[in-house]
Amino acid sequence: MDFPEARRAVLSLLRGVRARERPRLLRWMRTSSDFDELISSNDDAVLKSIAEDLRHSLPTEAMLNSEPLAIQKLNQQTKPTVHIDAFLYDDDCIDSLCKEGKMSRNFCLSCGSHQTAPLEFISHSFSIAELKFLYQHVLPDLTGKIVVDVGSRLGAVLFGGYFYSSASQIYGVEMNADFCHLQEVIVAKYQLDDRIKVLNADICTQASLLQNADVVVMNNVFEYFLDRSEQARSWEFISQNVRKKGSLLVTVPCLEESLSDLQVNIQLNHWVESMPLDYDVFLEEDIDRDALEQISLYRII
Ligand SMILES: C[S@@+](CC[C@H](N)C(=O)[O-])C[C@H]1O[C@@H](n2cnc3c(N)ncnc32)[C@H](O)[C@@H]1O
Repeated sequence: MDFPEARRAVLSLLRGVRARERPRLLRWMRTSSDFDELISSNDDAVLKSIAEDLRHSLPTEAMLNSEPLAIQKLNQQTKPTVHIDAFLYDDDCIDSLCKEGKMSRNFCLSCGSHQTAPLEFISHSFSIAELKFLYQHVLPDLTGKIVVDVGSRLGAVLFGGYFYSSASQIYGVEMNADFCHLQEVIVAKYQLDDRIKVLNADICTQASLLQNADVVVMNNVFEYFLDRSEQARSWEFISQNVRKKGSLLVTVPCLEESLSDLQVNIQLNHWVESMPLDYDVFLEEDIDRDALEQISLYRII
């Protein structure tokens, strides 16, 4: 059954329900978790298993000594901030860790008192829900297409692309060799090498890869990992090489925000066209709407 047929069938069923029972039925449809198993799939289960493997290979904060600048930038935030990787830890995982005392959602306002305030969280990866939204609702059918994830870190965008899209080649470019090794271990264990390739490189050495890509994904790539002059240089390189007409660029945050504090000569209106996104199509339970709204989609003109 396609969507219009299914919609007609649901409406016809609702019309057949006794009028006084209808509100109860509608409330159940809106709030019940009985539909969860229809929405989650075997692909979700494999991604969760990958996340579990990665959790066992990383410290809880999922940051490495080989990224001192990222650790320093996290510690310099104006509000107390912790890194919790959203691909590795969903809300249930965070709750369990908080119960075990291994993680906290709050910090102490004055040491020794019971006064606390919420910590700021940042994630250096997309969550599984965000990946599903990206591949199933934001991007078109990717059959035969090439996806490039700039700064692939744990490989979340690569693994999401493998299971939630039909992209023929999915490239991850990551400058940190330790993260590349982690991605390679997963690619080998789950036999994903027919469609996923991981390159340990600075994206600024990958002109032809960017020139040939149909979709380029950039989730907060440079801000926490490069100083401002390197960020500016990298964005100039991206804007000079992501040029294939009609190809798509996904960014978090939007380009205006990413470029706002940088000295760059990039004329957005000559490079990209912003594409509106419908955030209401995504019905997953407990979805972080704010996180989805950070995702922007552009078409190269
Ligand atoms: C926020 S993470 C993005 C993770 C992943 N793309 C995702 O969405 O789940 C950014 C990653 O980009 C990498 N990175 C930063 N600058 C880079 C560059 N010039 N070339 C390659 N990788 C870079 C960092 O090492 C970091 O692992």
